[in-house]
Amino acid sequence: MRKVLVGLFVLSSLIAGVCFADGDLDMDLMQNIEDLNKSLSSNLSLKDAKASTADAKELNRLFITVEEHFVKRGDAQNAVDLSKKSKDLTVEIITAVSANKFDAATDSATSLSRTCRTCHTFYKKE
Ligand code: HEC
Repeated sequence: MRKVLVGLFVLSSLIAGVCFADGDLDMDLMQNIEDLNKSLSSNLSLKDAKASTADAKELNRLFITVEEHFVKRGDAQNAVDLSKKSKDLTVEIITAVSANKFDAATDSATSLSRTCRTCHTFYKKE
């Protein structure tokens, strides 16, 4: 059992090592974004204004970090633009929710999820 655990640990550090090579994105950051994005869509469907706003604000903050990452990396204008677009969409969600427009907020959340996929198509290595 111990051996298996050590093996798993070595394997996962190897994988992490590959992902972190050449200034790649922090995987915890993307995992956080993933969790928040899921939480946001369920809170929007529950019309929970307080929780939706909290999720969207946190996503906004994390996309600032994503944007900084790609600005620093250079040669990734498309990713910088997609980070900005994601940030703008979180602001649209916050604005719509505060006006009690949950349909509009849900539309923006759908666009946000599409933006995730667009960026992954270009920049996420399998
Ligand atoms: C501007 C580009 C960009 C945007 C926008 C983006 N991602 Fe990512 N994401 C990446 C990159 C790049 C990786 C791979 C990181 C690496 O390989 O270093 C990644 C990886 C991930 C992963 C895998 C993490 C893991 O632990 O394996 C998840 C999950 C994820 N993103 C979710 C999301 C969600 C959900 C959104 C939208 C709400 C999103 N991402 C938006 C660039 C982006």
